[in-house]
Order: sequence, then C-alpha cells, then structure tokens
Amino acid sequence: MPWLRGLDIDSHEKNVRSSMNIFDKYHDPIIEDSIKQWEDGKRKEVDNLLDIMITLKDESGKPLLSIDEIKAQISEFFFGVDGPAAGAEWTLAEMINQLEILQKAIEEIDRACAREAFRLHPHVPFNLPHLSLEDIEVGGYFISKGSHVFLSRTELGRNPETWEEPLKYNPERHLGENVSKVDLSEPNLRFISFSTGKRSCTGQTLGTLLTIMALGRLIQGFTWSVPPNEEKIDLSTSEELTLAKPLHAHARPRLDEAMYPVAPP
Ligand code: HEM
Repeated sequence: MPWLRGLDIDSHEKNVRSSMNIFDKYHDPIIEDSIKQWEDGKRKEVDNLLDIMITLKDESGKPLLSIDEIKAQISEFFFGVDGPAAGAEWTLAEMINQLEILQKAIEEIDRACAREAFRLHPHVPFNLPHLSLEDIEVGGYFISKGSHVFLSRTELGRNPETWEEPLKYNPERHLGENVSKVDLSEPNLRFISFSTGKRSCTGQTLGTLLTIMALGRLIQGFTWSVPPNEEKIDLSTSEELTLAKPLHAHARPRLDEAMYPVAPP
C-alpha cells in the first residue's frame, strides 16, 4: 500500500535505517579516509576494489561515482558476500544427515548439491525490494505504480506446485534439467538464487565460484560425520533462515598430511 508507507506501521523502515547506521559507522570512515588519501596525493596505486571505484572517470575526466554512490556499492557488496558461506554451510549440514548423498557429492561436486541447497534454504527470507514504476498485472495480480514488491524466496523454492516433495533435500531432481554443470542461477524464478533482469545479482559468477570452491574443498579435504554423541545435524532454522545452531560436525582429514598447511603462530 504505497500511500501507507509514510506511517511505517510495521517499523520496517525504522529497523532498516538503524541497521544501515551501524553498517555506515564501520564503513564510512574507511571510505572517506581512502578518498582523502587520493585527493591529497598520498595514495597513487590502485590496490583494491575501493581504489577502483574512487579512481573511475567519466568521458570528461571527472570522478564517475559520487561518494554516496561508492558507499552504496560497498554496502551492497557486503550484503552479497554472506551468500556463499550460507550456501556451503547449508549444503554440508543437509548432506551429513544423508551420507549417501555426501558420497555422491564427492563424485558430483560440480553438479547439483549446492543448487538444491539454494532452492531449499535461501539465506534471507525475501528478495531485495523492487519498486513498481507503473501499474501492472503479474500472474493475475494487480500491482499499482509505486508499490514495494517483495518476492518470498522460501515460498518460491518450496512451492509444492513446482517441486515434488519440496521439503526433501534431493539434488538429483536437478540432474534431468537442462542446466550446465555448475549452474546455480534460476532465471525462471522457480526459486531465487541470483534473481533475474536488470537488477539481478552482479556477483553471480563470483558467488557461484566461492560457493562451489568452499564446498569442494570441505568435501575433498575431510570425511564428514555427525559428532560423537549426536544423532543428526540439527537443521532447525533461525528467523533469518540461517542454521539456528551453526554447523557443528566431525571432520577427519582424508588427504596427505602435507595438504593441510598449519598457519604460522
Ligand atoms: C551465493 C552467493 C550470492 C547470492 C545467492 C546472491 C543473490 C543476490 C540476489 C537474489 C540479489 C537481488 C536481485 C534482485 O533484486 O532481483 C543480489 C543482488 C546483488 N548482489 Fe548478490 N548474491 C550472491 C553473492 C554476491 C557477491 C559475492 C557479490 C559481490 C561481491 C554480490 C553483489 C550483489 C550486488 C551488488 C547486488 C545488487 C544488484 C543491483 O541492485 O543492481 N552478490 N544478489
């Protein structure tokens, strides 16, 4: 209801604003300090992503991004990097409870295990809000201009009209699909991984690589099992849809000792 937004009845806007203030408190001084170092000539070498954003120029040689645009981009990147960690953690948690799937994963790591975890366990409940620029009808529903549109990631991924036994973790359901070997994207929105369209995830390739690399290394490097004295991994979910209790599992090295370098003290 766009005309009710100003009232902020569910305190959504207040909560988001207060979270963003905490976020900004950490990021703003670093960003502002780096911009100052470039302006004072103390910094000359492009060394990281922030330097790239600060030094981008338009055709007339002026800075391409304003300070507010740089801050917004950095915030969005930080929201993004949670995804691979959550994806790898959920996949491993589900597979330790069904060891035959973990065994197959060792052979098929580059195929469907993470894709199935993305379907069943989106790491946040709703997609980023989108604003409707005009009156439009989607799937029989009228959406008025100015509405904030939220897609429920859980409801899409667990929709029984799309997915047989939607609550079962079953990577094989994806194997018959016409997807390339490592494909976590789902442009048809039967579940939301990176979403689709102009505002879809810009970190799609990096997110896919980080998820598969983390998971691949964990499965390749260790034999995983439920910890002694426990029967199953507890898959209950927090309000934010992460594992309610961070994954606690037993890991036994399965490669040569030399493959596990010890970090210097
Ligand atoms: C497994 C990992 C990830 C998942 C599942 C994921 C998912 C998503 C989704 C669903 C959106 C919203 C799309 C929409 O509004 O329709 C999004 C936006 C975005 N993501 Fe990711 N993401 C991941 C990793 C990353 C990484 C690693 C980065 C960058 C380092 C990143 C950067 C962004 C940015 C900048 C946007 C905003 C795009 C825009 O509004 O134009 N993401 N992501």
